Amino acid sequence: MPEQSASSTRRDSLHGLWSSRFAFILAVTGSAVGLGNIWRFPYVAGANGGGAFVAVYLLCVFAIGLPIMMAEVLIGRRGRRNPVATMTLLGEEEAGHPSWGLVGLLGVVTGFLILSFYSVIAGWTGAYIIKSAIGEFVGAEPATIAGSFAALTGSVLNSGFWHTVFMAVTMFVVARGVERGLEQAVRFMVPALVVILLILLGYAMNTGAFQQGFAFLFKPDFAALTGNGVLAAMGQAFFSLSIGMAAVMAYGAYLPQQTSIIGTSVAVVCADTAIAILAGLVIFPIVFANGLDPNAGPGLIFETLPLAFGQLPGGAIFGALFFLLLAFAALTSGISLMEPAVAWIMENHGLGRAQATTLVGTIIWVLGFTTVLSFNRLSDFRFWNGTIFDNIGFLTSNIMLPVGGLLITVFAGWVMCQNSSADELDETAGTLYRLWRFLARYVAPVAVLLIFLNATGLLAPVFDALMPQG
Ligand code: TRP
Repeated sequence: MPEQSASSTRRDSLHGLWSSRFAFILAVTGSAVGLGNIWRFPYVAGANGGGAFVAVYLLCVFAIGLPIMMAEVLIGRRGRRNPVATMTLLGEEEAGHPSWGLVGLLGVVTGFLILSFYSVIAGWTGAYIIKSAIGEFVGAEPATIAGSFAALTGSVLNSGFWHTVFMAVTMFVVARGVERGLEQAVRFMVPALVVILLILLGYAMNTGAFQQGFAFLFKPDFAALTGNGVLAAMGQAFFSLSIGMAAVMAYGAYLPQQTSIIGTSVAVVCADTAIAILAGLVIFPIVFANGLDPNAGPGLIFETLPLAFGQLPGGAIFGALFFLLLAFAALTSGISLMEPAVAWIMENHGLGRAQATTLVGTIIWVLGFTTVLSFNRLSDFRFWNGTIFDNIGFLTSNIMLPVGGLLITVFAGWVMCQNSSADELDETAGTLYRLWRFLARYVAPVAVLLIFLNATGLLAPVFDALMPQG
């Protein structure tokens, strides 16, 4: 068989291209940076004891997350279609198995589930811009602030209203499309986000508890970390980097051919991780300076930060800016959670972008009410990990994203022929390419499997046998 030239399988994008490498970096960074960094990272780190969780999280980000992100981008650009079509096409091309398309479908379903709860939390953020700006928290007592949070989350109407607003805005941006909508949105939001976070960092450094917050994040106590804590750290790495559900793959489909995937991915992963750590460095000093509990759960930033903001000069402005920052960050993430499904429906069912967005958005909006209700009418309806909200969070972050990521890295590392991945990464004989391939083939898959196995408790006897008694 004559050797097929690598470039003959290069395809054109169906939905236009990013205008530059910088626009793609902005878009993927906008997807990665969101509630995951600022709402979820601190509360999950707080619930798992801080330092040791953060150390495992960082390890997962660079050893598992980075190679999987590169795998997603390279697969996305190779296929140049929505994730379902791309995985079907490449599955057929590389292995004669179109059923790899199911990986894309898993991603679409995961995106629906994540956005359903994500939109509700993002909606609370919207409510808190206004609560802060009108001075509701200025000088307020802890009981008042807890009451305000409980009133918002306890009301189906209030919480549902803000969830509706967030979904509507997200749908509006997605409906406008990759050129006009996504790129314009992230071009403005991501830099604004970083600037406001840096202002808040300066603020946190003057709380008097900066060292304590720093130590909480970086002083590991590995004895306190459970198998489920390690699983949660891996889940948080996937969630924060937006990987494992083909969102990055969908964006990779619009990446110009000459852009370096390795350099771009490294930049995005470093930026996302820096922003999560930055958020931790902002939040924990404020928490400790006010004698608050780092282990407050999903309400951590909503119940503790307004108290801190309310006690400090200029707190109304800083509070409003902070929640504005969160809402922007959530919007650019919400967009990427919808894009795979929208692109799939457009290409498969012949709907226009606006119609596809309306269909997908409406389903997610309805689904979101299971989360709205988890904090009021259904708060006592508990099974497995807790409320419906708790279970959707655990199922998506800790199971579906890692399973999706595992399949994606196995596909890129083992199923795709080396010519194809080398052609996309464009580092054919380079050390960097070989390093990526080693991480994608061995390190990432084995680590994900070990962490799954560890969380079931099945590895405990092995560790006991390996460890010296004492
Ligand atoms: N990474 C985003 C955050 O940290 C959330 C997000 C956006 C996401 N797109 C995703 C998570 C795709 C997983 C998969 O807030």
